[in-house]
Amino acid sequence: IPVQPFDLVIFGATGDLARRKILPSLYRRLAVHQIPAGARIIGAARAKMSRAEFRKEVSDALLEFIGEAGLDKALVEEFINGLDYVTVDATGDNGWGTLAKKLDEKPDHIRAFYLSVAPALFGDISDRLAKHGIATPASRIVVEKPLGKDLASAKALNAQLSRNFDEHQIYRIDHYLGKETVQNLMAIRFGNALFEPLWNSNYVDHVQITVAESIGVAGRGAYYDKSGAMRDMVQNHMMQLLCLTAMEPPSKFDPDAVRDEKLKVIRALEPLTIGDTVRGQYRPSSKEGGYLDHVGDPNSHTESFVALKVHISNWRWAGTPFYLRTGKKLGSRFSEIAVVFKAPPHTIFPQVEHHRGNALIIRLQPNEGITLRVTIKEPGQGGMRLTEVPLDMTFAEALGADGLMPEAYERLIMDVIRGDQTLFMRGDEVEAAWAWTDPIIRAWDDAGTKPLPYDQGSAGPIQSYKLTSSDGHLWREIEA
Ligand code: BG6
Repeated sequence: IPVQPFDLVIFGATGDLARRKILPSLYRRLAVHQIPAGARIIGAARAKMSRAEFRKEVSDALLEFIGEAGLDKALVEEFINGLDYVTVDATGDNGWGTLAKKLDEKPDHIRAFYLSVAPALFGDISDRLAKHGIATPASRIVVEKPLGKDLASAKALNAQLSRNFDEHQIYRIDHYLGKETVQNLMAIRFGNALFEPLWNSNYVDHVQITVAESIGVAGRGAYYDKSGAMRDMVQNHMMQLLCLTAMEPPSKFDPDAVRDEKLKVIRALEPLTIGDTVRGQYRPSSKEGGYLDHVGDPNSHTESFVALKVHISNWRWAGTPFYLRTGKKLGSRFSEIAVVFKAPPHTIFPQVEHHRGNALIIRLQPNEGITLRVTIKEPGQGGMRLTEVPLDMTFAEALGADGLMPEAYERLIMDVIRGDQTLFMRGDEVEAAWAWTDPIIRAWDDAGTKPLPYDQGSAGPIQSYKLTSSDGHLWREIEA
């Protein structure tokens, strides 16, 4: 879909997210000719800065986060020339008139406001956009997590945004939805006849969703310690993976049809009990400090790892457990969804002692791709000996240069401009996810128990294996 000329105003344009992700993503889209001539990217922040100084900041950011080898001089020049800057005071009235005047120069442009600022400022900025006549009925506002820290604060945030913007104007980013392989989940499920007939509790034994990270919380301990793995990863990213894996086929690929189906999954989640959860906190290693050394509170009970056993109370999934786990300082950066099928109902091969069942594994990162675990005969004369082998495909190999994965933000920012909300969270979805996570977070707080310590580079606390083994299942290995 061609992209119309636009004005994208980035509030917090000199902040970490803008420098690291938003601006490099826009440059990459320019490189593939998706930024139309005349489009303007306008930085807005409190700092007093000239346009030239802002341009210098942005070219430094491109150098830092894309690297010289990935940059084309002429393109950088073109990109930089499309940048402008306005000093605005998010909590006062300075600068808004200037911004309004600038935007009014191009009444035909699509208007989008990216609030790359602390959520505490969302309300102030959206009020001022309205008050100064900058927000129009067609303009779009983009916000990103944390979208609240519980149901009450998420509701307050939604209420604040909806004072000035309709739901169809609000783009809530969960960057996992921008990941190619996450979108591929829908393509695999609903673009093939092969899987969907088996995609239910008659055939699926269980599902494992792992998002393992090798990084720790150093450098962002203060934020993370108020959050923990449940709020930081499960309520949003893992919830999206769970929804896309478990939802009913939407009747069409349209924003509300897809989001209605995701919402139904969240609403069908059974409440968690403490016994369905294992929380962990990484210990110091011989080389570096542990979780508690980075967060400034030696008694912190915040989890850097969590494993959950989740049940979905609906016709399709009753009886099929979904196991979720995510954590910091694990063996490697490794994320996948494994759909493990039941064993064949009857075995005609006496040598088969243990059949793990077919599995479809969707690898999100690294080596994005799909593996189908199938059983075949072992070559040789030893009778009908069976073995399991992977039918393996990586997108990069299968698609060559076309398999290069664009960054999540590239896709999402362009979807904002195109006006496509399919990959953005609706307000009710965010609230439903908090309504499910709130009670268990409260139960942990009330119990007052400490997360279990685990070794850096491991797969989390050993107790997380109990969650699966008590049902006769085994976590897949976190591959190095
Ligand atoms: C962020 C979390 O939303 O997602 C981080 O706040 C986490 O703690 C990150 O590291 C993971 O994203 P990705 O794209 O690296 O898997």
